[in-house]
Amino acid sequence: MEFNFTEEQLMIQQAARDFARTHLLPGVIERDEHQKFPAEQIKMLGELGMMGLMVDPKYGGAGMDTVSYVLAMEELSKIDASASVCVSVNNSLVCWGLETFGTEEQKQKYLTRLAKGEIIGAFCLSEPEAGSDATSQRTTAIDKGDHYLLNGTKNWITNGNSASVYLVIAQTDVEKGHRGINALIVEREMTGVVVGKKEDKMGIRGSDTHTVMFQDVVVPKENRIGEDGFGFKFAMKVLSGGRIGIAAQALGIASGAYELAVKYSKERKAFGKEIMHHQAIQFKLADMATKIDAARLLCLKAAWEKDNDLNYDLSSSMAKLYASEIAQEVTREAVQVHGGYGYVKEYHVERMMRDAKITQIYEGTSEVQRIVIGRAVIG
Ligand code: CAA
Repeated sequence: MEFNFTEEQLMIQQAARDFARTHLLPGVIERDEHQKFPAEQIKMLGELGMMGLMVDPKYGGAGMDTVSYVLAMEELSKIDASASVCVSVNNSLVCWGLETFGTEEQKQKYLTRLAKGEIIGAFCLSEPEAGSDATSQRTTAIDKGDHYLLNGTKNWITNGNSASVYLVIAQTDVEKGHRGINALIVEREMTGVVVGKKEDKMGIRGSDTHTVMFQDVVVPKENRIGEDGFGFKFAMKVLSGGRIGIAAQALGIASGAYELAVKYSKERKAFGKEIMHHQAIQFKLADMATKIDAARLLCLKAAWEKDNDLNYDLSSSMAKLYASEIAQEVTREAVQVHGGYGYVKEYHVERMMRDAKITQIYEGTSEVQRIVIGRAVIG
Protein backbone atom coordinates (compact mmCIF):
# COMPACT_ATOMS: atom_id res chain seq x y z
CA MET A 1 0.00 0.00 0.00
CA GLU A 2 1.23 3.45 -0.91
CA PHE A 3 0.51 6.16 1.67
CA ASN A 4 2.67 8.87 0.14
CA PHE A 5 1.24 11.67 -1.95
CA THR A 6 2.74 12.63 -5.29
CA GLU A 7 4.53 15.94 -5.71
CA GLU A 8 1.59 17.26 -7.70
CA GLN A 9 -0.88 16.29 -4.98
CA LEU A 10 1.26 17.96 -2.33
CA MET A 11 1.51 21.05 -4.49
CA ILE A 12 -2.29 21.34 -4.76
CA GLN A 13 -2.62 20.80 -1.00
CA GLN A 14 -0.10 23.56 -0.31
CA ALA A 15 -1.72 25.92 -2.82
CA ALA A 16 -5.15 25.41 -1.20
CA ARG A 17 -3.65 25.87 2.29
CA ASP A 18 -1.88 29.09 1.31
CA PHE A 19 -4.96 30.41 -0.43
CA ALA A 20 -7.20 29.66 2.53
CA ARG A 21 -4.90 31.42 5.00
CA THR A 22 -4.24 34.41 2.78
CA HIS A 23 -7.60 34.98 1.12
CA LEU A 24 -10.32 33.13 3.04
CA LEU A 25 -9.33 33.73 6.64
CA PRO A 26 -9.57 37.54 6.50
CA GLY A 27 -13.26 38.39 6.68
CA VAL A 28 -14.54 34.87 7.32
CA ILE A 29 -16.25 35.92 10.56
CA GLU A 30 -17.90 38.95 8.91
CA ARG A 31 -19.06 36.93 5.91
CA ASP A 32 -20.64 34.42 8.29
CA GLU A 33 -22.31 37.15 10.31
CA HIS A 34 -23.67 39.08 7.31
CA GLN A 35 -24.33 36.04 5.10
CA LYS A 36 -21.99 37.41 2.46
CA PHE A 37 -21.09 35.15 -0.44
CA PRO A 38 -17.28 35.11 -1.03
CA ALA A 39 -17.64 36.13 -4.69
CA GLU A 40 -14.18 37.68 -5.01
CA GLN A 41 -12.50 34.67 -3.41
CA ILE A 42 -14.39 32.23 -5.65
CA LYS A 43 -13.22 34.17 -8.69
CA MET A 44 -9.62 33.85 -7.46
CA LEU A 45 -10.11 30.15 -6.79
CA GLY A 46 -11.21 29.84 -10.41
CA GLU A 47 -8.01 31.52 -11.57
CA LEU A 48 -6.08 29.06 -9.42
CA GLY A 49 -7.78 26.10 -11.14
CA MET A 50 -9.78 25.05 -8.07
CA MET A 51 -13.22 25.33 -9.66
CA GLY A 52 -12.49 22.66 -12.26
CA LEU A 53 -9.78 20.77 -10.47
CA MET A 54 -10.52 17.36 -12.00
CA VAL A 55 -11.58 18.57 -15.45
CA ASP A 56 -9.43 17.78 -18.46
CA PRO A 57 -7.27 20.80 -19.40
CA LYS A 58 -8.76 20.70 -22.90
CA TYR A 59 -12.02 21.85 -21.25
CA GLY A 60 -10.32 24.47 -19.12
CA GLY A 61 -9.72 22.32 -16.04
CA ALA A 62 -6.62 21.61 -13.95
CA GLY A 63 -6.58 17.89 -14.86
CA MET A 64 -5.92 16.73 -11.29
CA ASP A 65 -7.14 13.54 -9.66
CA THR A 66 -9.77 13.04 -6.96
CA VAL A 67 -7.12 12.56 -4.26
CA SER A 68 -5.87 16.09 -4.99
CA TYR A 69 -9.46 17.30 -4.82
CA VAL A 70 -9.85 15.79 -1.34
CA LEU A 71 -6.62 17.42 -0.19
CA ALA A 72 -7.71 20.81 -1.56
CA MET A 73 -11.21 20.53 -0.11
CA GLU A 74 -9.82 19.71 3.34
CA GLU A 75 -7.53 22.75 3.31
CA LEU A 76 -10.20 25.19 2.11
CA SER A 77 -12.76 23.79 4.56
CA LYS A 78 -10.40 24.19 7.51
CA ILE A 79 -10.88 27.91 7.13
CA ASP A 80 -14.12 28.58 5.26
CA ALA A 81 -16.74 25.90 4.63
CA SER A 82 -19.02 28.44 2.95
CA ALA A 83 -16.49 28.92 0.17
CA SER A 84 -15.62 25.24 0.00
CA VAL A 85 -19.21 24.08 -0.59
CA CYS A 86 -19.34 26.34 -3.64
CA VAL A 87 -16.09 24.74 -4.85
CA SER A 88 -17.44 21.27 -4.15
CA VAL A 89 -20.76 21.68 -5.96
CA ASN A 90 -19.09 23.25 -8.98
CA ASN A 91 -16.42 20.54 -9.18
CA SER A 92 -18.24 17.35 -8.23
CA LEU A 93 -21.82 17.83 -9.24
CA VAL A 94 -21.68 20.26 -12.12
CA CYS A 95 -18.29 19.93 -13.86
CA TRP A 96 -17.88 16.19 -13.29
CA GLY A 97 -21.47 15.53 -14.37
CA LEU A 98 -21.05 17.51 -17.58
CA GLU A 99 -17.64 16.12 -18.41
CA THR A 100 -18.69 12.51 -17.83
CA PHE A 101 -22.16 12.52 -19.36
CA GLY A 102 -22.45 15.70 -21.46
CA THR A 103 -22.20 15.96 -25.23
CA GLU A 104 -19.18 17.58 -26.86
CA GLU A 105 -21.34 20.59 -27.66
CA GLN A 106 -22.49 20.91 -24.02
CA LYS A 107 -18.89 20.67 -22.84
CA GLN A 108 -17.75 23.37 -25.25
CA LYS A 109 -20.65 25.63 -24.37
CA TYR A 110 -20.80 25.23 -20.60
CA LEU A 111 -18.04 23.09 -19.09
CA THR A 112 -15.06 25.17 -20.19
CA ARG A 113 -16.33 28.35 -18.55
CA LEU A 114 -17.47 26.46 -15.43
CA ALA A 115 -14.12 24.71 -15.07
CA LYS A 116 -12.24 27.99 -15.33
CA GLY A 117 -14.51 29.50 -12.70
CA GLU A 118 -15.68 32.19 -15.14
CA ILE A 119 -19.20 31.14 -14.25
CA ILE A 120 -20.60 29.08 -11.36
CA GLY A 121 -22.94 26.11 -11.55
CA ALA A 122 -25.66 24.76 -9.26
CA PHE A 123 -27.34 21.38 -8.93
CA CYS A 124 -31.11 21.41 -8.54
CA LEU A 125 -32.51 18.16 -7.19
CA SER A 126 -34.14 18.88 -3.82
CA GLU A 127 -37.74 20.01 -3.66
CA PRO A 128 -40.11 20.86 -0.83
CA GLU A 129 -41.31 17.23 -0.89
CA ALA A 130 -38.35 15.47 -2.47
CA GLY A 131 -35.30 15.64 -0.23
CA SER A 132 -34.09 12.20 0.77
CA ASP A 133 -36.84 10.64 -1.35
CA ALA A 134 -35.31 11.99 -4.53
CA THR A 135 -37.45 9.96 -6.92
CA SER A 136 -40.57 11.95 -5.95
CA GLN A 137 -39.88 14.84 -8.29
CA ARG A 138 -42.74 17.32 -8.69
CA THR A 139 -40.81 19.54 -11.11
CA THR A 140 -41.92 18.63 -14.61
CA ALA A 141 -40.09 18.77 -17.93
CA ILE A 142 -42.81 18.16 -20.51
CA ASP A 143 -41.59 16.94 -23.88
CA LYS A 144 -42.69 19.43 -26.53
CA GLY A 145 -40.82 17.97 -29.48
CA ASP A 146 -37.75 20.15 -29.91
CA HIS A 147 -37.77 21.40 -26.32
CA TYR A 148 -38.90 20.68 -22.76
CA LEU A 149 -41.27 22.95 -20.88
CA LEU A 150 -39.90 23.15 -17.36
CA ASN A 151 -42.05 23.98 -14.32
CA GLY A 152 -41.39 23.58 -10.63
CA THR A 153 -39.63 24.78 -7.50
CA LYS A 154 -36.27 23.64 -6.19
CA ASN A 155 -35.24 24.24 -2.59
CA TRP A 156 -32.00 24.77 -0.67
CA ILE A 157 -29.99 25.29 -3.83
CA THR A 158 -26.33 25.93 -3.09
CA ASN A 159 -25.01 28.74 -5.38
CA GLY A 160 -28.69 29.46 -6.08
CA ASN A 161 -28.18 33.15 -6.75
CA SER A 162 -24.57 33.16 -7.92
CA ALA A 163 -24.95 30.40 -10.52
CA SER A 164 -25.23 31.09 -14.22
CA VAL A 165 -25.99 27.47 -15.05
CA TYR A 166 -28.33 25.05 -13.25
CA LEU A 167 -28.44 21.30 -13.73
CA VAL A 168 -32.12 20.63 -13.08
CA ILE A 169 -33.63 17.21 -12.36
CA ALA A 170 -37.26 16.97 -13.48
CA GLN A 171 -39.98 14.44 -14.20
CA THR A 172 -40.87 14.00 -17.87
CA ASP A 173 -42.98 10.85 -17.72
CA VAL A 174 -44.70 10.11 -14.40
CA GLU A 175 -45.78 6.64 -15.54
CA LYS A 176 -42.13 5.61 -15.82
CA GLY A 177 -41.28 6.70 -12.25
CA HIS A 178 -37.58 7.33 -11.75
CA ARG A 179 -36.91 6.10 -15.29
CA GLY A 180 -38.97 9.02 -16.60
CA ILE A 181 -36.74 11.68 -15.01
CA ASN A 182 -34.40 13.93 -17.01
CA ALA A 183 -31.47 16.19 -16.20
CA LEU A 184 -31.51 19.50 -18.06
CA ILE A 185 -28.96 22.27 -18.41
CA VAL A 186 -30.78 25.52 -17.68
CA GLU A 187 -29.28 28.96 -18.07
CA ARG A 188 -30.01 31.61 -15.47
CA GLU A 189 -30.88 34.01 -18.28
CA MET A 190 -33.62 31.81 -19.75
CA THR A 191 -37.07 33.36 -19.48
CA GLY A 192 -38.98 31.99 -16.49
CA VAL A 193 -36.01 31.26 -14.23
CA VAL A 194 -36.74 33.03 -10.94
CA VAL A 195 -34.36 33.06 -7.99
CA GLY A 196 -36.43 33.10 -4.82
CA LYS A 197 -35.75 33.63 -1.16
CA LYS A 198 -32.34 33.29 0.38
CA GLU A 199 -32.23 30.90 3.34
CA ASP A 200 -31.14 32.34 6.69
CA LYS A 201 -29.05 29.38 7.80
CA MET A 202 -27.51 28.14 11.04
CA GLY A 203 -24.15 27.47 9.39
CA ILE A 204 -22.25 27.93 6.11
CA ARG A 205 -23.89 31.34 6.19
CA GLY A 206 -21.55 32.74 3.55
CA SER A 207 -22.78 30.27 0.96
CA ASP A 208 -25.74 31.42 -1.01
CA THR A 209 -28.64 29.03 -0.63
CA HIS A 210 -31.85 29.89 -2.43
CA THR A 211 -35.14 28.62 -3.69
CA VAL A 212 -35.08 28.57 -7.49
CA MET A 213 -38.30 28.50 -9.49
CA PHE A 214 -38.82 27.48 -13.09
CA GLN A 215 -41.94 28.90 -14.70
CA ASP A 216 -42.66 27.70 -18.24
CA VAL A 217 -38.97 27.67 -19.06
CA VAL A 218 -38.28 26.55 -22.63
CA VAL A 219 -35.24 24.27 -22.50
CA PRO A 220 -33.90 23.06 -25.87
CA LYS A 221 -33.67 19.29 -26.27
CA GLU A 222 -29.92 19.57 -26.84
CA ASN A 223 -29.65 20.66 -23.19
CA ARG A 224 -30.74 17.26 -21.89
CA ILE A 225 -27.89 15.27 -20.32
CA GLY A 226 -27.74 11.69 -21.55
CA GLU A 227 -30.54 9.61 -23.01
CA ASP A 228 -34.21 10.27 -22.29
CA GLY A 229 -34.93 9.03 -18.74
CA PHE A 230 -31.29 9.11 -17.57
CA GLY A 231 -31.87 11.97 -15.14
CA PHE A 232 -32.24 10.01 -11.90
CA LYS A 233 -29.23 7.83 -12.55
CA PHE A 234 -27.31 10.95 -13.51
CA ALA A 235 -28.23 12.48 -10.13
CA MET A 236 -27.21 9.34 -8.23
CA LYS A 237 -23.92 9.09 -10.07
CA VAL A 238 -22.88 12.69 -9.55
CA LEU A 239 -23.96 12.51 -5.92
CA SER A 240 -21.68 9.52 -5.34
CA GLY A 241 -18.72 11.68 -6.33
CA GLY A 242 -20.20 14.71 -4.60
CA ARG A 243 -20.25 12.80 -1.34
CA ILE A 244 -16.46 12.50 -1.51
CA GLY A 245 -16.28 16.30 -1.73
CA ILE A 246 -18.64 16.81 1.21
CA ALA A 247 -16.83 14.13 3.22
CA ALA A 248 -13.62 16.09 2.61
CA GLN A 249 -15.42 19.26 3.63
CA ALA A 250 -16.52 17.66 6.91
CA LEU A 251 -12.97 16.40 7.40
CA GLY A 252 -11.63 19.91 6.84
CA ILE A 253 -14.07 21.49 9.30
CA ALA A 254 -13.01 18.89 11.88
CA SER A 255 -9.28 19.24 11.26
CA GLY A 256 -9.52 23.04 11.24
CA ALA A 257 -11.23 22.99 14.64
CA TYR A 258 -8.75 20.44 15.95
CA GLU A 259 -5.75 22.53 14.90
CA LEU A 260 -7.21 25.54 16.69
CA ALA A 261 -7.84 23.42 19.80
CA VAL A 262 -4.22 22.18 19.83
CA LYS A 263 -2.92 25.73 19.40
CA TYR A 264 -5.15 27.07 22.16
CA SER A 265 -4.21 24.27 24.54
CA LYS A 266 -0.56 25.29 24.20
CA GLU A 267 -1.30 28.92 25.01
CA ARG A 268 -3.96 28.80 27.68
CA LYS A 269 -2.86 28.26 31.26
CA ALA A 270 -5.02 26.83 34.03
CA PHE A 271 -4.08 25.40 37.42
CA GLY A 272 -0.51 26.59 36.94
CA LYS A 273 0.29 25.02 33.55
CA GLU A 274 -0.69 25.09 29.88
CA ILE A 275 -3.90 23.15 29.56
CA MET A 276 -2.28 20.73 27.09
CA HIS A 277 -0.46 19.28 30.11
CA HIS A 278 -3.75 18.27 31.69
CA GLN A 279 -4.71 14.72 30.84
CA ALA A 280 -8.36 15.74 30.44
CA ILE A 281 -7.34 17.91 27.47
CA GLN A 282 -4.83 15.39 26.09
CA PHE A 283 -7.49 12.70 25.99
CA LYS A 284 -9.80 14.99 24.05
CA LEU A 285 -7.06 15.86 21.56
CA ALA A 286 -6.10 12.20 21.20
CA ASP A 287 -9.69 11.22 20.36
CA MET A 288 -10.05 14.12 17.93
CA ALA A 289 -6.79 13.25 16.13
CA THR A 290 -7.73 9.58 15.82
CA LYS A 291 -11.19 10.28 14.44
CA ILE A 292 -9.82 12.80 11.95
CA ASP A 293 -7.23 10.35 10.70
CA ALA A 294 -9.85 7.63 10.24
CA ALA A 295 -12.12 10.05 8.34
CA ARG A 296 -9.21 11.16 6.14
CA LEU A 297 -8.38 7.57 5.26
CA LEU A 298 -12.01 6.91 4.27
CA CYS A 299 -12.05 10.04 2.10
CA LEU A 300 -8.81 9.10 0.40
CA LYS A 301 -9.93 5.51 -0.15
CA ALA A 302 -13.09 6.69 -1.89
CA ALA A 303 -11.07 9.15 -3.98
CA TRP A 304 -8.52 6.48 -4.88
CA GLU A 305 -11.29 4.12 -5.96
CA LYS A 306 -12.79 6.82 -8.15
CA ASP A 307 -9.39 7.60 -9.68
CA ASN A 308 -8.89 3.91 -10.43
CA ASP A 309 -12.29 3.44 -12.08
CA LEU A 310 -13.55 1.20 -9.28
CA ASN A 311 -17.06 1.41 -7.89
CA TYR A 312 -17.00 4.05 -5.16
CA ASP A 313 -20.71 4.28 -4.24
CA LEU A 314 -20.15 2.46 -0.96
CA SER A 315 -16.86 4.10 0.01
CA SER A 316 -18.14 7.61 -0.74
CA SER A 317 -21.19 7.05 1.47
CA MET A 318 -19.04 5.61 4.24
CA ALA A 319 -16.63 8.54 4.00
CA LYS A 320 -19.46 11.06 4.09
CA LEU A 321 -21.28 9.35 6.92
CA TYR A 322 -18.23 8.99 9.12
CA ALA A 323 -16.57 12.32 8.36
CA SER A 324 -19.79 14.24 8.95
CA GLU A 325 -20.44 12.44 12.24
CA ILE A 326 -16.94 13.04 13.59
CA ALA A 327 -17.11 16.66 12.42
CA GLN A 328 -19.92 17.13 14.99
CA GLU A 329 -17.92 15.47 17.74
CA VAL A 330 -14.61 17.15 16.98
CA THR A 331 -16.00 20.68 16.61
CA ARG A 332 -18.02 20.27 19.82
CA GLU A 333 -14.90 19.17 21.66
CA ALA A 334 -12.89 22.02 20.12
CA VAL A 335 -15.40 24.45 21.63
CA GLN A 336 -15.07 22.64 24.96
CA VAL A 337 -11.25 22.87 24.93
CA HIS A 338 -11.59 26.63 24.34
CA GLY A 339 -14.02 26.98 27.26
CA GLY A 340 -15.77 30.37 27.30
CA TYR A 341 -13.65 31.61 24.39
CA GLY A 342 -14.98 28.78 22.27
CA TYR A 343 -18.47 30.17 22.63
CA VAL A 344 -17.63 33.52 21.03
CA LYS A 345 -17.16 34.25 17.34
CA GLU A 346 -13.60 35.54 17.52
CA TYR A 347 -12.13 32.07 18.12
CA HIS A 348 -13.77 30.49 15.04
CA VAL A 349 -14.69 27.15 16.60
CA GLU A 350 -18.33 28.08 17.32
CA ARG A 351 -18.75 28.78 13.58
CA MET A 352 -17.14 25.47 12.74
CA MET A 353 -19.52 23.69 15.09
CA ARG A 354 -22.47 25.32 13.30
CA ASP A 355 -20.96 24.66 9.84
CA ALA A 356 -20.33 21.00 10.63
CA LYS A 357 -24.03 20.21 10.99
CA ILE A 358 -24.89 20.69 7.33
CA THR A 359 -22.47 17.95 6.29
CA GLN A 360 -24.87 15.45 7.86
CA ILE A 361 -27.72 16.86 5.81
CA TYR A 362 -26.80 17.87 2.26
CA GLU A 363 -25.89 15.53 -0.58
CA GLY A 364 -27.83 12.89 1.30
CA THR A 365 -28.50 12.87 5.03
CA SER A 366 -26.66 10.44 7.32
CA GLU A 367 -29.78 8.29 7.10
CA VAL A 368 -29.50 8.20 3.27
CA GLN A 369 -25.84 7.17 3.56
CA ARG A 370 -26.89 4.39 5.94
CA ILE A 371 -29.47 3.23 3.38
CA VAL A 372 -26.76 3.04 0.70
CA ILE A 373 -24.31 1.30 3.04
CA GLY A 374 -26.98 -0.97 4.52
CA ARG A 375 -28.09 -2.16 1.09
CA ALA A 376 -24.49 -2.90 0.12
CA VAL A 377 -23.89 -4.75 3.37
CA ILE A 378 -26.86 -7.06 2.93
CA GLY A 379 -26.10 -7.44 -0.77
N1 CAA B 1 -25.50 4.94 -9.56
C1 CAA B 1 -26.31 4.59 -10.59
N2 CAA B 1 -27.60 4.28 -10.44
C2 CAA B 1 -28.10 4.31 -9.20
C3 CAA B 1 -27.33 4.64 -8.08
C4 CAA B 1 -25.97 4.97 -8.29
N3 CAA B 1 -25.16 5.32 -7.30
N4 CAA B 1 -28.11 4.59 -6.98
C5 CAA B 1 -29.33 4.22 -7.39
N5 CAA B 1 -29.32 4.06 -8.75
C6 CAA B 1 -30.42 3.64 -9.60
C7 CAA B 1 -30.91 2.25 -9.23
O1 CAA B 1 -30.17 1.26 -9.90
C8 CAA B 1 -32.34 2.30 -9.70
O2 CAA B 1 -32.41 2.12 -11.10
P1 CAA B 1 -33.14 0.85 -11.77
O3 CAA B 1 -34.51 0.77 -11.15
O4 CAA B 1 -33.15 1.18 -13.21
O5 CAA B 1 -32.29 -0.32 -11.42
C9 CAA B 1 -32.73 3.75 -9.46
O6 CAA B 1 -31.53 4.50 -9.40
C10 CAA B 1 -33.52 3.94 -8.19
O7 CAA B 1 -32.72 3.44 -7.14
P2 CAA B 1 -33.30 3.05 -5.72
O8 CAA B 1 -34.45 2.11 -5.89
O9 CAA B 1 -32.16 2.64 -4.87
O10 CAA B 1 -33.91 4.45 -5.25
P3 CAA B 1 -34.58 4.85 -3.90
O11 CAA B 1 -35.79 5.62 -4.18
O12 CAA B 1 -34.69 3.67 -2.98
O13 CAA B 1 -33.56 5.95 -3.29
C11 CAA B 1 -31.66 6.88 -2.21
C12 CAA B 1 -32.27 5.70 -2.99
C13 CAA B 1 -30.24 6.43 -1.95
C14 CAA B 1 -32.36 7.16 -0.89
C15 CAA B 1 -31.67 8.15 -3.11
O14 CAA B 1 -32.98 8.62 -3.36
C16 CAA B 1 -30.84 9.27 -2.57
O15 CAA B 1 -29.61 9.28 -2.71
N6 CAA B 1 -31.49 10.28 -1.92
C17 CAA B 1 -30.80 11.46 -1.43
C18 CAA B 1 -30.73 12.53 -2.45
C19 CAA B 1 -29.65 13.52 -2.15
O16 CAA B 1 -28.51 13.20 -1.90
N7 CAA B 1 -29.99 14.82 -2.27
C20 CAA B 1 -29.05 15.86 -2.13
C21 CAA B 1 -29.44 17.03 -2.94
S1 CAA B 1 -28.12 17.79 -3.78
C22 CAA B 1 -27.29 18.73 -2.66
O17 CAA B 1 -27.48 18.63 -1.49
C23 CAA B 1 -26.26 19.63 -3.25
C24 CAA B 1 -25.89 20.75 -2.33
O18 CAA B 1 -26.61 21.71 -2.20
C25 CAA B 1 -24.64 20.73 -1.62
